[in-house]
Amino acid sequence: MEKITVVGAGHVGATCAQLLGLKELAREIVLVDIVEGIPQGKALDQWESAPIEGFDSRVIGANDYGSTDGSELVVVTAGVARKPGMSRDDLLLTNANIVRGVTEEIVGRSPDAIIVMVTNPLDAMAYLAMKVSGFPRERVIGMAGVLDTARYRSFIAMELDVSVEDLQALVLGGHGDTMVPLVSYTTVSGIPLTQLLNRKRIDELVQRTRDGGAEIVRYLKTGSAYYAPAAAVVQMVESIVRDKKRILPCSACLQGEYGLDGIFLGVPCKLGASGLLEILEVELTAEERAALEKSAQAVRDSVAVLGAETFARAGA
Ligand code: NAI
Ligand code: 2OP
Repeated sequence: MEKITVVGAGHVGATCAQLLGLKELAREIVLVDIVEGIPQGKALDQWESAPIEGFDSRVIGANDYGSTDGSELVVVTAGVARKPGMSRDDLLLTNANIVRGVTEEIVGRSPDAIIVMVTNPLDAMAYLAMKVSGFPRERVIGMAGVLDTARYRSFIAMELDVSVEDLQALVLGGHGDTMVPLVSYTTVSGIPLTQLLNRKRIDELVQRTRDGGAEIVRYLKTGSAYYAPAAAVVQMVESIVRDKKRILPCSACLQGEYGLDGIFLGVPCKLGASGLLEILEVELTAEERAALEKSAQAVRDSVAVLGAETFARAGA
């Protein structure tokens, strides 16, 4: 790609920019933040690592959107992160205002961009960006499932003392306490997890996955996770930039799939050059379906907290 913009030069945004550069996923990577000096300083620092790491992606920092014009992909990480004791929904109102403003800038300057939303509460913010931008669902995708699945896979790999590479799994649903790790689709080199671990232990690892974000917040105290989240974003971006057509769990706008309509929720998605290429519908057990519907309701509830004016299309 020619240009990728990352909005928000905090922990997740700056780490994303660094990984995007290391993987040379765009010729130019623009890092934007409202805090004066931060995006410029981090971008320059990263660019100064290029001669050592051997990458030619130019990293640029700015406080305005002038240099973002014509971005083909925009990663949105702008917002406030969780502090101990805060739920993702506590962030809702503050981050909705920020994401609305950021989306208005994107629409005006990069009307053909694919938006990868990261800001929490994730599913509500992705929905907001789609409404405000008026972009089709193919071009607004939320990052959550790749992270939640990576956490789940990492916990199982530790438990079984096997390579993380041999773990295949899917975590669906909203990025929140109601996420739905699909035990029936969890395999270790094709062997169903249920043949390797007892149900009680699997349930404990599922719960640890649900609490995965909070576990890191408890350690860090001043913010939330960013290494794994940034890696998750970059895996999605790479599938788009290189048109890899990977099947990754992402938050996408459902239009009838899984019997749900008009909400963002984590589902298996095929990602390629034009963004979301396809949503895959997999069979669920009755228990998993009920959990997905509960998760959908939690996302609907958080969207309902925001007033209609928050979703008005940019420029309307
Ligand atoms: P952070 O606080 O380190 O960085 C956020 C950055 O956004 C700050 O530098 C801040 O100045 C900037 N910002 C605020 N308003 C802005 C605006 N209007 N325009 C441009 N920049 C603005 O937070 P961190 O850790 O980077 O997290 C960012 C967001 O990502 C949070 O909402 C967090 O909850 C979310 N997150 C989501 C994950 C997911 O799985 N979807 C995983 C990890 C974080
Ligand atoms: C996480 O899951 C805070 O959503 C963020 O780490």
